[in-house]
Amino acid sequence: MENIVNLCKRRGFIWQGSEIYGGMSGTWDYGPLGTALKRNIMQAWWQYWVEDREDMYGIDAAIIMNPRTWVASGHTATFSDPLVECKFCHNRFRADKLGNFGANVTTEELVTAKVKCPVCGKIDWSEVKQFNMMFETKVGATGNDVAYLRPETAQGIFTNYRNVVDTMYPDLPFGLCQQGKAFRNEISPRDFVFRSREFEQMEIEYFINPKTWEADFEKLLNDCHEFLEQIIGLPKDLIHELDVTEEDRAHYSRRTIDIEFDYPIGREELMGIAYRTDFDLSNIQRESGKNMEYTIKGTTEKFIPHVIEPSFGVERLLMAVLTSAYTEDEIAGEKRTLLKLPEHLAPFRSCVSPLLKNKPELVAKAQEVYQTLRQKYHNVTWDDSGNIGKRYRKQDEIGTPKCIVIDFDTIEDNTVTIRDRDTTKQIRTPISDL
Ligand code: GLY
Repeated sequence: MENIVNLCKRRGFIWQGSEIYGGMSGTWDYGPLGTALKRNIMQAWWQYWVEDREDMYGIDAAIIMNPRTWVASGHTATFSDPLVECKFCHNRFRADKLGNFGANVTTEELVTAKVKCPVCGKIDWSEVKQFNMMFETKVGATGNDVAYLRPETAQGIFTNYRNVVDTMYPDLPFGLCQQGKAFRNEISPRDFVFRSREFEQMEIEYFINPKTWEADFEKLLNDCHEFLEQIIGLPKDLIHELDVTEEDRAHYSRRTIDIEFDYPIGREELMGIAYRTDFDLSNIQRESGKNMEYTIKGTTEKFIPHVIEPSFGVERLLMAVLTSAYTEDEIAGEKRTLLKLPEHLAPFRSCVSPLLKNKPELVAKAQEVYQTLRQKYHNVTWDDSGNIGKRYRKQDEIGTPKCIVIDFDTIEDNTVTIRDRDTTKQIRTPISDL
């Protein structure tokens, strides 16, 4: 994990948030390469779930919502983690993460299990308290109106369900998809971008007839596997399902499957799929007084749809992509590091170079090829720094699948070499075939 974090910093993928001022705990900034990788992952998700399906619609709701949203959704009352303080050294921890405990862990359980403070080693715990994780803010000039940064993107979807039904007339079942920032005041942000206070979600609320919820759940679960394994290319043997117990499920869920991934930090939740029943739409109907029923077309049958929610965190997916792509090998007795990223996710699809930087005819020809490929493929980079070996190492390390080199033969016969990142093998190809 340390090697990956170092690579991310050194090569401009991810930096500590506000690093220049000593950092801001639980926040991360993405550099040029990290931004490109993240956007490629988000675009792959959008294409798979929205553009390539006829039963899904995209939306983009505001981050700051009317606070009644969070009363109706139950977040004001119950969106909390168990907080405990060591009375000796005054450090604070998430009590359930101090061992194998459930979300309702008590001080007695910690003491009986002889859990020591991870900082000072004493067993001197305060009462476990529920700590609400929503970030509060004030809206407008009076400074009296409290609002919250959304703790999940899902409510921006539920509160627009009626608008979509009335404007798009979708057939049931249908899904609404959204990508965007969410915020949680985590007690202990940790493990690089895995648990941070500001993060990006990609959520689908899939509206169904409750009679078919089990079949719909299975179908969406299969789609999640297809997306992770076929589209994102994560190794199947690192992906596992966990049927979440009632005690550990979110307050709105009747069934949850967590899809876990074998990260270098251990097996952890990559994403979740939850059966939220009609919990959200019924609450919104009660809180807003607006009718949330759906009428089956051509009939008088109407009901409040139930919902199945596949919920992805961009950063957790990006971390799974990075950790499964990270490879160390040896070429001709020399150690190298490479990121075996799929071509559609890599920050750059290819890199164009003149063999020698000080030969104007090579540079001019290489520029011509570079500009042509940029117009065709967009995310193509240029590298004429150092010697060719160093350029290959750098491009390997940032995951560029192909390096295209213009040499003296190119001037004669309009062919170039293409070097493959994973095998390091080179082939000669006419420019017109690139
Ligand atoms: N919408 C589910 C979650 O944020 O965990």
